[in-house]
Amino acid sequence: MNAVPSVGVADQTAPRPEPPLALLCELTHRCPLRCAYCSNPLELERSANELSTAQWKDLLDQAARLGVLQVHFSGGEPTVRKDLCALVAHAASVGLYTNLITSGVLMTPQMAQDLAAAGLEHAQIGFPDIDEDGSTLITAFKGGLERKYAAAEALRAVGIAITMNAVITRHNLDRLPQMFAVAQQIGARRIEVANVQYYGWGLKNRASLIPSPEQLAWMNDCVEQARERLKGLLTIDYVIPDYYAKRPKSCLGGWGRRFLNVTPSGKVLPCHAAETIPHLQFDTVTERPLKDIWEHGTAFQAYRGEAWMPKTCRSCDFKEADWGGCRCQALALAGDAAAMDPTCEQSPLHQSVRALAEAEAAAGQTQIIYRDFSQS
Ligand code: FES
Repeated sequence: MNAVPSVGVADQTAPRPEPPLALLCELTHRCPLRCAYCSNPLELERSANELSTAQWKDLLDQAARLGVLQVHFSGGEPTVRKDLCALVAHAASVGLYTNLITSGVLMTPQMAQDLAAAGLEHAQIGFPDIDEDGSTLITAFKGGLERKYAAAEALRAVGIAITMNAVITRHNLDRLPQMFAVAQQIGARRIEVANVQYYGWGLKNRASLIPSPEQLAWMNDCVEQARERLKGLLTIDYVIPDYYAKRPKSCLGGWGRRFLNVTPSGKVLPCHAAETIPHLQFDTVTERPLKDIWEHGTAFQAYRGEAWMPKTCRSCDFKEADWGGCRCQALALAGDAAAMDPTCEQSPLHQSVRALAEAEAAAGQTQIIYRDFSQS
C-alpha cells in the first residue's frame, strides 16, 4: 500500500485562518501506565526537555490572546507535573475552559480539592476496561481500575464534571453494556465509547486490538439501544474504528482549522500524530510566537484548506465537512500524507484497508507491545 510521498501544497491565497478553538497541552510524556494504544509518539520526550511552569503559563497567555477557548491538560499523565494546579489556575485566570485528561491512577482526594480550587471544570478519565485483568492487559499496570474509581469519586465529590472515556478493543467490547452502568455509577455525565485510533503505539498493536466487522455491528446496536434507554441521563459519544467507516472523519475539525497540540518540549503540532509525517517541520513556542506559528507555520499551512487535496477530494460535496479526512492515517495506510484518506470509500485503497482489518481481527493475534521509554 505504498505510494510516492508528496508534500502538502500551502494555499498562498487562503485568507488568514480563524482562531483555534482548542489547545491540547501535553505537559509530559511521563506516565505510570504503558498503554498499548497510547497516543504519544513512539519517541517519547524525556522530563529534562519539558517546558517550565513559566513557559507553559506564557503559552496559556498567548493562547488566550489568540482566541483559544478551551485548554486540555494531557500527557502522558498530567498529574505527575507538580505545577498542574498552578497551570489550571493560570488557564482559568485568563478565561480558558479547563479540562484534565487523566488515567486517574495518581489522583488523591487532596489533589481533586486543589484542582477544584484552581478552577478545573471538567475531567476525562480513561478506562481501558472495567475488568481488572482486562485493564492490566492493556496498561501493564496492576490495580489501576480501583484507583480510577477512587479518582472519579474524589473528583465528583468536589463538583468537577466527569466524562468516562471507554477505549474499545476486541478484548473489552463484550463488556460494553456494563460500561454504561459503570459510567452512571461513577457519576459521569458523558461516556465516550471510543474505538482505538490506530496511530503510533496503537498502530503497532493494531493486529492485537482491532475488532471484527461482526463485533462492530453488535457494538453499533448496543450503542443505539443504550442511547435510547439512557436519553437525558447519559450522553453517549461514539467513535467507530476508522477502518470500517465509509466516510473519513473530519480529523480534529480539519488540519489547522480548530486545534493546536503542544508537546512537552514546546513543539506546536496541528494534531497529536503529526510528527509521524516525516517531511513536516515544527516550530516551538520557545522560538516563535504562537500566533505566528498558527497563521504562518509551514506545518499548519501544509494541509490547511483544500489546495493540497487530490482532485477527487477537491470536487467532493463533503470536502468542507471532512476536510479530506486524516492526514496521519493517509500516511500510515497509503504512504503519502497528501493522499486520499483510505477510510473514504472513494479511495482506491478503501477495500484493501477494510480487508486488512478483517484479516487481522480474524487472525486473533494476542501479543502486545507496550509503550516504552527505552525506544526513545
Ligand atoms: Fe493527524 Fe488525523 S491524527 S490528521
